Amino acid sequence: MEGNEQTAHVALPLKYRPMTFEDVVGQEHVTRTLRNALESGRVANVYLFIGPRGIGKTTLSRIFAKALNCTSPKGVEPCGECENCVQIATGRSIDVVELDAASHNKVEDVRPIIEAVQFKPASSKYKIFIIDECHMLSNAAWNALLKTLEEPPPYVKFIFATTEGDKMLATIVSRCQRFDLRRIQTHQIVSRLSYICGKEKIKASDDALLAIARGAEGGMRDALSSLDQLIAFKGGEVTEEDALSVFGLVSRGELEALAGAILTGDAATILQAVDRFDSAGKNMRRLSAELMAHFRNLIVFQTLGAKASGLEATPDQVKTLSEQAKLCPSARIFKVTDLLADMEDKLRYVLSVRTFIEMTLLKASRVATVATIEELLKAVRELKASGGGSETKGLNDLNGSSGAEASNAPKDSNGTEGSNAPNGLKGPKGSADPKGSEAPKAAEQAAPALTSARRREILDDPKLNGLLSTLGGQVVDIK
Ligand SMILES: Nc1ncnc2c1ncn2[C@@H]1O[C@H](COP(=O)(O)OP(=O)(O)OP(=O)(O)O)[C@@H](O)[C@H]1O
Ligand SMILES: [Mg+2]
Ligand SMILES: [Zn+2]
Repeated sequence: MEGNEQTAHVALPLKYRPMTFEDVVGQEHVTRTLRNALESGRVANVYLFIGPRGIGKTTLSRIFAKALNCTSPKGVEPCGECENCVQIATGRSIDVVELDAASHNKVEDVRPIIEAVQFKPASSKYKIFIIDECHMLSNAAWNALLKTLEEPPPYVKFIFATTEGDKMLATIVSRCQRFDLRRIQTHQIVSRLSYICGKEKIKASDDALLAIARGAEGGMRDALSSLDQLIAFKGGEVTEEDALSVFGLVSRGELEALAGAILTGDAATILQAVDRFDSAGKNMRRLSAELMAHFRNLIVFQTLGAKASGLEATPDQVKTLSEQAKLCPSARIFKVTDLLADMEDKLRYVLSVRTFIEMTLLKASRVATVATIEELLKAVRELKASGGGSETKGLNDLNGSSGAEASNAPKDSNGTEGSNAPNGLKGPKGSADPKGSEAPKAAEQAAPALTSARRREILDDPKLNGLLSTLGGQVVDIK
């Protein structure tokens, strides 16, 4: 099939169809299992690939078929050069039959397969049937196939592929070794695009490729088609601007700046950004989804660091994440993501998308910059735990106390803690210790069991409020 178009321009998705398992981007769970099966010789009779468009179902079916019938494989990879490999790649192998079930879904269409199964392969090890869009096969067609699927001769393999796994009958699925292929991560698409641009001698910045990959939403074929279009439109250089305008996306820099404004509580920047995006006709729903993804990455970064495998980011994005991760503790970012998730949900129904986004982002910026009660408690506990001396003095300074009072601080603050704590917060040990040296430990244990009365007390606590106002904040119950 690929060979027919060689004289004309070959579309990038066709030209760069991976030829080996190694070449396939993502889908490691599938390639690993298939390679193991080939290595150990324990190959199932029927395979089923399920997944969205353009992520490698047909590609993997063909690679697997080649690997099964290749006469000189390199390890388990097909050589791509032997007669069998070449014929499969060009759709001319008589032992590998591809059926497009979208247009051939009747019993009559599968009957030749059932008949062909009885004859050994002509010139290869296996007779392989690849049935694409198999969810389109009629019930009668499936029924006709059922027996063959159950007990195929040892030289027969079936590979089914479909975008609609839920439409498959359970009786069929249970006879297959099933693989669910995933959308490909944006940064993996960027790497592939970058490799292809190198081969094609196309100039494109990483941000331009990132914009294309973001627009493709996990589909490699879509990403390659978009790149093709942009090259046709612009020639040898593709800019971020071009790619962004095709998809109505906000640039990486602008998106990150907006996230930064939320993290630092910069309301003016937030409002200006939303205004700019709205006037430029940017896709606000995508903006919301991408902001969400950014904050999710931020939490992953804070939790696991730059090497985290779950981090879906290009090196430039990782750089920003590392800077922004310092701006705000995860507990607050969780609250921001709650707001954003809610926003994504409601965006479908609200009348004024712009106003709704403005308000939500302002609220998010507040959440990001106001300390939570848990954080305050932790800070106070740490101050107390650090004992007397300069730190204790620091606490009293923040409380607006005089130096004279500061020297009494340890006893005072422990006493306050003791009397304010609900019964049972101080363990028997704590109460048995008149000096209160165990109090910080008791508070540590007590913290998770914050009753609403205690919450109220904390909110109204003049010391805490004093401490915070000196830091430029205030106690707000955002629960
Ligand atoms: N995982 C991948 N790695 C590298 N390239 C890929 C991958 N998936 C898809 N492509 C590119 O996209 C093109 C189309 O992929 P493929 O035909 O395998 O998609 P598909 O999953 O079968 O989609 P459809 O459901 O539309 O049939 C390939 O020729 C290749 O260029
Ligand atoms: Mg396909
Ligand atoms: Zn070969």
